[in-house]
Amino acid sequence: MKTNFAIVALAGWFLSGNAYGQDCNQTIEGNDLLQYSLSEIRVSASCGEVTITLRHTGQLPVNAMGHNWVLTATADAEGVVEAGRNAGAPGYLPEGDPRVIAATEMIGGGQASSVTFDVSALTAGGDYMFFCSFPGHYALMKGQFIVE
Ligand code: CO
Repeated sequence: MKTNFAIVALAGWFLSGNAYGQDCNQTIEGNDLLQYSLSEIRVSASCGEVTITLRHTGQLPVNAMGHNWVLTATADAEGVVEAGRNAGAPGYLPEGDPRVIAATEMIGGGQASSVTFDVSALTAGGDYMFFCSFPGHYALMKGQFIVE
């Protein structure tokens, strides 16, 4: 039993991809059906800088089906979405808003955008989330951002 447990634990350690901080570059996709490909993103605090790439795998243009990837504390998310709606097209994100920890560009089908930011300033185990700030998308396009 002891040996089996060790093997399972080791497999989990390798599969996690965090063993050598190699999960510091991650990709998430968005499509024409208001869906992200991930509902959760985990990063290691030991990454320091993390790069998140958003790929829009749909075909609709940015003004009809724009997607971005915005990271905030969960408590700030709805306020930022509202401020983004007020900021308007094309970015739908308030400029210089300190609640925005990181954000990609707003993109349309076939495009991609990356953002690199420092996670060592974030709190491990803190409550963060990512979402799309295009009007109406927040209801479906969001997920948990976990710093381990
Ligand atoms: Co969107």
